[in-house]
Amino acid sequence: MHSHFFFFFFLVPLLCLLLLSFPHTVHCQCSKRPPVIFNFGDSNSDTGGLAAGLGFPINSPNGRIFFHRSTGRFSDGRLLIDLLCQSLNTSFVSPYLDSLGGSKFTNGANFAVAGSATLPKFVPFSLTIQLMQFLHYKARTLELVNAGSGNLINDEGFQNALYMIDIGQNDLADSFSKNLTYVQVVKRIPSIITEIKNVIKTLYNQGGRNFWIHNTGPFGCLPQKLSLVQNKDLDPYGCISSYNSAARVFNEGLHHLCVEMRSELKDANVVYVDIYSIKYDLIANATKYGFSSPLMACCGFGGPPYNYNIKVTCGNPGSQACDDGSKFISWDGIHHTEAANTIIASKVLSTAYSTPRTTFDFFCRS
Ligand SMILES: *[C@@H]1O[C@H](CO)[C@@H](O)[C@H](O)[C@H]1NC(C)=O
Ligand SMILES: *[C@@H]1O[C@H](CO)[C@@H](O)[C@H](O)[C@H]1NC(C)=O
Ligand SMILES: *[C@@H]1O[C@H](CO)[C@@H](O)[C@H](O)[C@H]1NC(C)=O
Repeated sequence: MHSHFFFFFFLVPLLCLLLLSFPHTVHCQCSKRPPVIFNFGDSNSDTGGLAAGLGFPINSPNGRIFFHRSTGRFSDGRLLIDLLCQSLNTSFVSPYLDSLGGSKFTNGANFAVAGSATLPKFVPFSLTIQLMQFLHYKARTLELVNAGSGNLINDEGFQNALYMIDIGQNDLADSFSKNLTYVQVVKRIPSIITEIKNVIKTLYNQGGRNFWIHNTGPFGCLPQKLSLVQNKDLDPYGCISSYNSAARVFNEGLHHLCVEMRSELKDANVVYVDIYSIKYDLIANATKYGFSSPLMACCGFGGPPYNYNIKVTCGNPGSQACDDGSKFISWDGIHHTEAANTIIASKVLSTAYSTPRTTFDFFCRS
């Protein structure tokens, strides 16, 4: 009796405190309440949605480490979302569209699909379409739960879940690739933010209270952009200044939205994560992190400086991959290697880039 008391009321909190002070290595587990995660986004967090939804082939060497086969992820291994799931000791969140995965979506679902943007609104798989899929999924799940299906997420599960959003990069990048000027691209930002706001508010009205919002990365540092854009305005690290500047304007708007949501939706937890700073630091201080060519893709065609050719992209005939992906930040010219994702994940989990500085497991603790 006494030893149990000691264990639960003294040792466990002490252990948690100790573990929390080393956020890079260990984390308190979601032991009382199994974590449920719903994710909305683009290829940065697509764990197989494009392959499942449109049959788009994502060939080897994608997935060559960790999974040892292509899983529909654009990387040689795990994505940031996978590593965040692992930090909670929960399985990877299955793509909603994966009909062969055998997933009962007991720990959530991933609605992210590569290429997705917020606008236009009603094309597959825009953020709005992903939200509509979630609403359908939720209604159907609760119908089955009410009919006696155990093991599915119930109403409480939906309320306590974490709702993650990582989108916006394609809205900006697509605008630039349609030859819109910087001023024209920046003018579109408020309407992108409005789409994200609508999604947060709808999820809140549905009972969701926990939100985890990633801002967008410095896409002006992507080898793909660097190889495709002529007359580049490069910053000291060799990235396209105007692209990164647009990303920062978008991120300011997103940050402001999170502040607004926190005051408007009183009992909601809205965590804003500065992915931009994490990824830009990785490029700027590449050597310090053990990377050699921060602006060159591991897998692609054409060699230095960017090893990217839009006609011979990674996984397609003629493309070649580097031997050691752990020396590269960029996997295929657009997406990151698992080595980069691992550093990004440890920084996200450190809470140093989060506002407020909430630990990732906040929604399933207590
Ligand atoms: C992690 O999960 C596995 C099975 O899902 C379980 O056996 C193991 O005890 C868990 N580890 C921790 C540290 O909670
Ligand atoms: C954008 O401009 C480039 C260079 O002027 C041109 O080659 C390309 O076709 C244009 N793209 C679009 C979508 O108009
Ligand atoms: C590079 O690292 C230094 C030292 O940690 C840091 O002060 C600086 O902000 C980093 N650069 C970028 C662009 O993040």
